[in-house]
Amino acid sequence: MLITKIYQLNEIAQAANELRLGELIAFPTETVYGLGADATNEKAVKRVYQAKGRPSDNPLIVTVCDRQMVIEYTGELSKQASALMDAFWPGPLTLILKIKPNALPSVVTGGLKTAAFRMPQNQATLELIRQAQVPLVGPSANSSGKPSPTTAQHVFHDLEGKIAGILDDGPTQVGVESTILDLSTETPTVLRPGAISPKQIEAILKTEVLYDNHQVKQQEVPKAPGMKYKHYAPDAQVIIVNETSWPAALAWAKQQVEAVGIMATTDILNELETTKLTYCLGDDVVSASQKLFDGLRYFDEQPAVKYILVQGFAEEDLGAAYMNRLKKAAGNTFFDK
Ligand code: TXA
Ligand code: MG
Repeated sequence: MLITKIYQLNEIAQAANELRLGELIAFPTETVYGLGADATNEKAVKRVYQAKGRPSDNPLIVTVCDRQMVIEYTGELSKQASALMDAFWPGPLTLILKIKPNALPSVVTGGLKTAAFRMPQNQATLELIRQAQVPLVGPSANSSGKPSPTTAQHVFHDLEGKIAGILDDGPTQVGVESTILDLSTETPTVLRPGAISPKQIEAILKTEVLYDNHQVKQQEVPKAPGMKYKHYAPDAQVIIVNETSWPAALAWAKQQVEAVGIMATTDILNELETTKLTYCLGDDVVSASQKLFDGLRYFDEQPAVKYILVQGFAEEDLGAAYMNRLKKAAGNTFFDK
């Protein structure tokens, strides 16, 4: 068992040193915490899969602090890639680009001819990468099967004893993972919705962008290997409640013998008589996205809770990313009575 150290923002140099030695350090980003290891060190990257309990053919994002680090693996950037980096980097947009043959270890790429690159908007992490002098692999720092971590405490809960440290910069701001855009195909394709919407990407590229949301079957060779893996769902049944269904949903909750957790915005919770089984999502879809995973973790710690009613939002812009994660957690179950 390792002792997992919490690094404060004035201890970046020590954390960077651990990374250079092949140790694992979780780092903050604007979306969720990532699990960092030197992307050029095969042994270190293998330990990431072990620590997370992640299937090893699911490729990892390469997290960089500048464009030069990308160019090293891809060669000259395409116009599209440069334009998107100008517009959205640092920020929650991951770009899948073709790489030079064998430029990165196959444990990083899952043996693909492409790699996913991301420059997160977090000053401490950009400094960490600068000081480590290597790009970091950065899957979300949860154990496989748990929601992505949005605080250092979530990471500690899942990975204590398995990683050398966590650089703590408080709760993340966006709360859902980055948009993934595949630029290696003829038509740019969004493989995972995030805070940067297809509309915003289209406005920069001035061309249509596809959205690929199909679930890949186990035998099928997936375009995005991550597509075939089961996503997080709590033990309790999550039920999505749309705005107009709240009165009926709350009446239903009252009749249940088993405990029902409620995750909703302030205005809806204000209408309720006080009960301990609520989690406030703040005022709008922005705060709800930031808090979604924390709320699901909160109820997961309470085995008595058998149902969780969670507020749905319109599936546009950030709401599309929020609903994408929520629908997976709910197995697509909506309150409908
Ligand atoms: O916001 C984020 O992107 C966070 C923070 C920590 O940066 N990271 C994150 O990483 O969500 P992860 O590993 O949990 O999700 C990355 C996804 C996986 O589903 C993986 O299959 C996919 O990206 N991916 C990675 N490389 C790929 C590639 N070359 N082609 C297609 N999909 C790829
Ligand atoms: Mg993940």
